[in-house]
Amino acid sequence: MRAALLALPALLLAAPATLAHENHMHSSHPLVDARMGGMTMMVATMAQVSRAAEGEGSIARAAFPASGLALFARSLPALFAAETADAAETRALPAIWADAAGFAAQTAEFAAATAALEAAARADDREAFTAALARTKNACQACHTTYRAES
Ligand code: HEC
Repeated sequence: MRAALLALPALLLAAPATLAHENHMHSSHPLVDARMGGMTMMVATMAQVSRAAEGEGSIARAAFPASGLALFARSLPALFAAETADAAETRALPAIWADAAGFAAQTAEFAAATAALEAAARADDREAFTAALARTKNACQACHTTYRAES
């Protein structure tokens, strides 16, 4: 059990090599750079909050990284502005703009999940934190499945 828990952050930390865009030099639009940079940093932040969830004692120290996730989540609608729809070097699928209501629902769910994560950390409520962390991971995955190209 303990070994399985310890393996999780390692997996998350390994993710940038496999998930991150191959070329971080420059994309064609500053908003695309901003969202790719933020998404990449979220992988490291998720590893940090996951470690807090697996540790013992207070999880209040996770409030700071969780607050960053919550703020970034709130910025997603602006980072996927319509003007970026035809940018080069993006894995954002046209469905983001064709199905605007569906994408808005995904960003809203992600914002709610990360806000719950931050609130649980501030309240030092481990049970609520663990539930909000699972909800947050599901929100990452659900959005990628529908709105991000494979490569
Ligand atoms: C509301 C939708 C949505 C949510 C929620 C979301 N992502 Fe993404 N993510 C995307 C889209 C779309 C892209 C592709 C962006 C692009 O290429 O312009 C992306 C790209 C990425 C990338 C690749 C960045 C790069 O440089 O190519 C990583 C890593 C990533 N997301 C991690 C995460 C993690 C971790 C979470 C949750 C903590 C998350 N994402 C939540 C939609 C989402």
